[in-house]
Amino acid sequence: MTNARDRSDIADIDLASSGHQAIEWAREHSPLVDGYLRDRFRDGALEGKTVAVVVHLEAKTALLATVLADAGARVVAAGSNPFSTRDNIAAALVDRGIEVHSTRESGYPAWEKHLLAVADSGPDLIIDDGAELTVRMARHRREQFNALSGVTEQTTTGVERLRKMEESIGLPFAAMAANSAACKHLFDNRYGTGQSTIQAILNLTNLLMPGKGVAIVGYGWVGRGLATYVRAMGGEPIVIEVDPVKALEAYMDGCTVAPAHEALPRADFVITATGGMRAIGHRHVEHLKDGVILANAGHHDLEVDVDAFAAIADDVTIVREDITRYQVGDKRLDVLSSGALVNIAGGLGHPIEIMDLSFAVQGVGCHELARGGYEAGLHVIGAELDAEIAAAKLKSYGIVLDTLSEEQADIVELD
Ligand SMILES: NC(=O)c1ccc[n+]([C@@H]2O[C@H](COP(=O)([O-])OP(=O)(O)OC[C@H]3O[C@@H](n4cnc5c(N)ncnc54)[C@H](O)[C@@H]3O)[C@@H](O)[C@H]2O)c1
Repeated sequence: MTNARDRSDIADIDLASSGHQAIEWAREHSPLVDGYLRDRFRDGALEGKTVAVVVHLEAKTALLATVLADAGARVVAAGSNPFSTRDNIAAALVDRGIEVHSTRESGYPAWEKHLLAVADSGPDLIIDDGAELTVRMARHRREQFNALSGVTEQTTTGVERLRKMEESIGLPFAAMAANSAACKHLFDNRYGTGQSTIQAILNLTNLLMPGKGVAIVGYGWVGRGLATYVRAMGGEPIVIEVDPVKALEAYMDGCTVAPAHEALPRADFVITATGGMRAIGHRHVEHLKDGVILANAGHHDLEVDVDAFAAIADDVTIVREDITRYQVGDKRLDVLSSGALVNIAGGLGHPIEIMDLSFAVQGVGCHELARGGYEAGLHVIGAELDAEIAAAKLKSYGIVLDTLSEEQADIVELD
């Protein structure tokens, strides 16, 4: 067989050394991936398995790929978004003998080609994000799709896609909804996206948060996290929701809740976090402030409908690195990172400690599937596994739990 370098398609192998440095930094702060997962993988279940890793290709993902490869898996990697790959990380992985098909800002056609190249490697297992590879294999590589033995899925959007796929064509393999694990969505979607999105927006714009109105479209786990960090930094979160329970939760959390036509005229920043398409688009333009900054934290690059903005704009210019201005009449609409996930495409992604937890969930899911015994169809990570992962994380912080005494545990005492 040819070596990883010959099989890979990356920007520049000479970038490897800075990539190794970044992966090493991530490793030093990832006790679960570098410790707990390594220990779990020692049973040999992953040996000889081809594992496709299709997650935003940056240092934390590369550490997971390395640990899987060290456990004896043949790892083939690609990015889960055409604009989020770090070329130095891709180079470092190839330098470690891992096959990679990904370049930053390759655009959609090249990204699709890269995903199909990963499909053609005939994976046994996929660690997916947004179900980007799984969906494409179902559409374009049905033979390899039918031969899959398992998929673990990272995101809310991806789990929804798998659920729809299960209803329409059926899943011929077991899939793990990693996002449904408490150790994933309680921390990653909320604290990880909350911190890293606000951090990325402020870094890209070099603006101040105190006093700013921030419209948050969608108050799920991500929206809640965004509101927490906006408030903590002195901004005012104004929530736009369509689900009454979520809207009530936002209100009880202390946010202003309003429909788009009332919220947007007050917003200096608009952040989408719905998981759907076109959450902000053509019909919202009349309500947006001149000079508003729009950013997306949800999975789809078209949550902020930049195509609709382009269609009605008099002029489209890059006004600062990663900021595109759509001039619509006398209104300036400034979109960050082309509408891609701003915390990843325009920032450093989730904090390392958060991804340590999320990738522990993904790694456990992948390992469970490699061990076998799961029926075809969508599964959730069980509460016992969730508790095992949380306990490992607490241990890494040196935190010891209390235990219930017999007396305290006896909650059915009748007299
Ligand atoms: N940027 C990141 O790093 C990151 C991390 C985790 C999740 N995500 C993505 O963020 C998105 C949201 O995730 P979540 O876990 O909060 O999902 P969620 O399903 O818990 O929340 C989404 C919310 O958006 C609301 N909504 C949907 N369409 C809307 C619309 N047009 N207008 C107003 N509200 C609308 C829904 O009612 C729901 O409350 C998903 O796409 C997920 O994949 C991104």
